Amino acid sequence: MVSSKFLALAATASLALGSPLPLPAGFRLSLREDRPFNASLPNVTIFATGGTIAGSASSSDQTTGYQAGALGVDVLIDAVPELWNVSNVRGVQVSNVGSEAVTPAVLLNLAQRVQAALDDPLCQGAVITHGTDTLEESAFFVDLVIRSEKPVVFVGAMRPATAISADGPINLLEAVTLAADPDARGRGTMIVLNDRIGTAFYTTKTNANSLDTFKAVEQGYLGFFINIKPKFYFAPALPWKKPYFDVTNATSLPQVDILFGHQALNPALATAAVASGAKGLVLAGMGAGGWTTEGDAAIDEVIKNNGTAVVYSRRSMDGYVEPEGDIEFVYGGGLLNPQKSRIMLQLALYAGYEDAQLRTLFELDG
Ligand code: SIN
Repeated sequence: MVSSKFLALAATASLALGSPLPLPAGFRLSLREDRPFNASLPNVTIFATGGTIAGSASSSDQTTGYQAGALGVDVLIDAVPELWNVSNVRGVQVSNVGSEAVTPAVLLNLAQRVQAALDDPLCQGAVITHGTDTLEESAFFVDLVIRSEKPVVFVGAMRPATAISADGPINLLEAVTLAADPDARGRGTMIVLNDRIGTAFYTTKTNANSLDTFKAVEQGYLGFFINIKPKFYFAPALPWKKPYFDVTNATSLPQVDILFGHQALNPALATAAVASGAKGLVLAGMGAGGWTTEGDAAIDEVIKNNGTAVVYSRRSMDGYVEPEGDIEFVYGGGLLNPQKSRIMLQLALYAGYEDAQLRTLFELDG
C-alpha cells in the first residue's frame, strides 16, 4: 500500500505543470511554496526506470516480495523536498519496472534521452533511478554510450519507499547533490547507494539483501558523502581504455547470452543459445575463465559454424581473464564480470567490431 503522503503528493503534482513562470523546458516548480524555482541553482534531470526505490509494500516491515516500480517519478521527487535546496529538478518516466525487465529497447531509449538532456546547456547533470538487481548493467551500458563531461548518476534503494527506514530518499538526495556538483564532472557514470560513490565501470552488486551492497572490491570507491555532500578520494579519472559506442541511431542490439560454468555443465547449451539467435556468448568460467573439455569442444563448434564471438569471463567475484592464445573469435573478459562483458560485447558487435578490435577491447595493455 502506498502511504497517504505519497498519494497526496501524486494527486497535486499535475497542478504545478501549468506554471506560467519561464522555467527551462520540462522543469516545474516544487510543490512546496517555500521552494520556488531557483535560477541560481543547477538543473538536474531525473530519469526514473522503476525498481525498489519506486517500490511499494503492504506494510512498513515488508522488505521482500513487494511490488518494484509502483510509484511514479513525481512521487519520488516530492517525497524529498530537500532536493530543492541543491538543484532544480525535473522528472522523466522512462519505464516503471523491476530491473529484471529492462530490455535493450529501454536502455537505448534511456541513453538517447540522457544524452539529449546533457547536450542542453541548461542541464548540469542526470540522475537515473533504477532497480538494484541489474543496475550495474544499465549503468555500465550508459557509461559506454554517453559523451559528456557532466555527471551521470545511477541510484537505487534496497528497501521499498513504504519501508521503515527506507533508503531511497537519502540515496536520491545524495545522487542529485552529486549530479549537481561541478567536482563530479569528468568521472564517467557513477553509482550512489549507502553514502558511497562508485564507478559504473567496475561497481557490482555484492549482496542480495544488504544496504551495503554496491562495491568494486579491487578498484574501490570514488568517494563518499558527509552531511549529504560528496567527498572524492581522487581527482577525476576514467577507467583505463574505456571505449565509447555511438548508439544515437540504434533501435536494437545483437543478442548476447551468458552461460554459467560449473561441474558437469551441459555443452549443448552453447549450441542452443546460438540456435536461438545469440551472436555472442559470455562464459562465466570457473577460476580464470575455465571451461570443461566437452564444453570447449561445443564452443569451438559454434565458432566454426557460426562465427560466434565468445568471451571467457569468470564466475568469481574478481580477477583478470586473459585470452588463451590467438584463436579467432575467442576473447578473455579482462577485469569485467560476465554481466558487464555481455554489455561490452553487445555494443561492440552492434558497432561492427572485427576480430582484431574485439581482441583488444577487454585487455588492459596498449
Ligand atoms: C529491482 O531490481 O527492480 C528490484 C530490486 C531492487 O531494486 O533492489
